[in-house]
Amino acid sequence: MRALVPDYIETLKPYVPGKPIEETEREYNVTHVIKLASNENPLGPSPMAVEAIEAAARRVHLYPDGASYYLVRRLAQHLGVEPSEVFVGSGSNEIIELAIRTFTSIDDVALLSAGSFVMYKVALQSHGRKFIEVPMKAGYQYDLKAMAAALTRQTRVVFLANPDNPTSTAFGKSELEEFLAAVPEDVLVILDEAYFEYVDWAEYPNGLDYFHKHPNLMVLRTYSKIYGLAGVRLGYGVMQARLATYLNRTRMPFNLTSIAQAAGIAALDDVEHLRTTRETTWRELRYLETELRALGLPVPTSRANFVFADLGRPTAPIYEALLRRGIITRPVPGSGWPNALRISAGLHTQNERLVNAMREIL
Ligand SMILES: Cc1ncc(COP(=O)(O)O)c(C=O)c1O
Repeated sequence: MRALVPDYIETLKPYVPGKPIEETEREYNVTHVIKLASNENPLGPSPMAVEAIEAAARRVHLYPDGASYYLVRRLAQHLGVEPSEVFVGSGSNEIIELAIRTFTSIDDVALLSAGSFVMYKVALQSHGRKFIEVPMKAGYQYDLKAMAAALTRQTRVVFLANPDNPTSTAFGKSELEEFLAAVPEDVLVILDEAYFEYVDWAEYPNGLDYFHKHPNLMVLRTYSKIYGLAGVRLGYGVMQARLATYLNRTRMPFNLTSIAQAAGIAALDDVEHLRTTRETTWRELRYLETELRALGLPVPTSRANFVFADLGRPTAPIYEALLRRGIITRPVPGSGWPNALRISAGLHTQNERLVNAMREIL
């Protein structure tokens, strides 16, 4: 008898999301659980987005606008690009999946950094695509020189997370420019900027400055992080119109709900929500870095909204001990870090609880 699924599905290890609060309360018999596991916005969504969602909810008997016409135009205006250069998806995750499906075939190979976002590997394997991983350099940093050297004729797509998840580090302008110059134009470069809005670093390259020069560059952003809209599933890519045209061929006709479209338009107007989130996050990141380093952990300076704690020993007992205290963090073994925890910057009282618990446990 033939196997029910191809071998690459049989051996696929699914993505493990952060543990939900309710499940933790039930399993560990604890209350007042805090979740610092999924890099969500601890301040919640923009009230303006919530209002737009409520209004859109009254019209959900109708199919959404399949072209996301108004959202695409509003985003293009916000970003200073053409509407034809914007592609919206049900989370940037959908665009990762679609890009693999659209631009690669079975014999193509993807190039990844080891230790980076695990979804690239999951999405590639679920399409039966091969990938190679280039080790990071010291400091939990992408090694773009080594990645450029690893390009072969089989390489069809490269994934770059900047800032990276889970390590929270970023690479600078000159590194990106050198890398892009080394990549042939028939190799798609997916530059994933899920944490773009949090970056406070003069050397950080804005992917949108490069896609006109590089027709093979696709920049991904999301509403799941700083905009606090992870639950509505909304992300976008910016790229030359030709690339967007291909994605529009392969996407589902109604890939974005009307709720997501309404929320995405309204959230862009809430400048105050963005500013408050950014300032809170920066303050809390510095607090977490200082306190965790004081416990002897080599925490790199975060460019995102979470910190990466290399514990130097297996993560599971510490993760469990935190759960018993009602604190959900994120082990990241799938990314290749069996000894590390990723901790999202929460509200100050939550971060204090985390630090105190870590002090007790370590
Ligand atoms: C680097 C990176 N890319 C993409 C995503 C997926 O985001 P979305 O919620 O837009 O699918 C995440 C979410 O954790 C991420 O960290």
